[in-house]
Amino acid sequence: ARLPDLLRAMPKAELHIHIEGSLEPELIFALAQRNGITLPYASVEALRSAYAFSNLQSFLDIYYAGASVLLHEQDFYDMARAYLARAVQDNVVHAEIFFDPQTHTARGVPMEAVIHGLHRACQDARAESGISATLILCFLRHLSEEDAFATLEQALPWQDKWIGVGLDSSEVGHPPEKFARVFARCRELGLHVVAHAGEEGPPAYIWSALDVLGAERIDHGVQALRDAMLVQRLAQSRTPLTVCPLSNQKLCVFPELKDHNLPQLLDAGLCATVNSDDPAYFGGYLNDNLVQVFAATGMTARHAYQLASNSFEASFVPEADKRQWQ
Ligand code: ADE
Ligand code: ZN
Repeated sequence: ARLPDLLRAMPKAELHIHIEGSLEPELIFALAQRNGITLPYASVEALRSAYAFSNLQSFLDIYYAGASVLLHEQDFYDMARAYLARAVQDNVVHAEIFFDPQTHTARGVPMEAVIHGLHRACQDARAESGISATLILCFLRHLSEEDAFATLEQALPWQDKWIGVGLDSSEVGHPPEKFARVFARCRELGLHVVAHAGEEGPPAYIWSALDVLGAERIDHGVQALRDAMLVQRLAQSRTPLTVCPLSNQKLCVFPELKDHNLPQLLDAGLCATVNSDDPAYFGGYLNDNLVQVFAATGMTARHAYQLASNSFEASFVPEADKRQWQ
């Protein structure tokens, strides 16, 4: 069979998807209308044509603006149902979904509306399509640790509806050390811990995500190849990297997709996975990421099997439940 067919057909887990980054321009406009919000763009086409990014921050500015149409529990539900339906088409059988509550609570949206809407979508998608989905609460690193602590407190009444914490938003200038105490508290609570590190930031941020925050996975991590000791550490510990090829291309982390270091990460023995990050903004869902990065870099069927296997190994699904996919 052709390699793209294998890539599309193989069962896989998605471990790095920001649910607010799955909000398509059409849904942004529909929600704006439903909620009586006026957007600073005249049309879906005008909004989509603003999606030209030079770095992470230039994307984040427009991503937070897009999320401003989300007000009610039903809005969060509709957004997550749309993503999960799309993921099913890509043969995603399990998704661990990031959400950014501070983006919403700062606008007066109750934490309960965010968590309940997303969680109900995960339950209904499972009942309808069999896809399993869990939620990971991300702290925004451009805000203070105090704000992260307050967010954690607000979310703890619904701790049964999310499985872990992450760290996202503007990386450079906001090192993991800034959040050492709140992540220590999260570990005490038995939460899973992940962190974005080494997207634009240096290998030192990956070291501190591991050693200061106790991250079990590194989101992106593509800068790790600049540090041979770090590569050795990640390889021997099988610490997963959730890599997002189209994101890295669109945010100019690599000039072109053919320059992406995914094949080198895999060939170095790292547990790298492929993910979509913010598919509505970066021009592709999970299978688009796989098909395009394979075409650009000349990876083989051996890499495809390795990536599918890595995605389940790297997931937080209990070992006994993973066996159905491995
Ligand atoms: N939030 C959404 N997407 C992100 C990314 N790629 N890096 C950091 N924060 C994000
Ligand atoms: Zn991300």
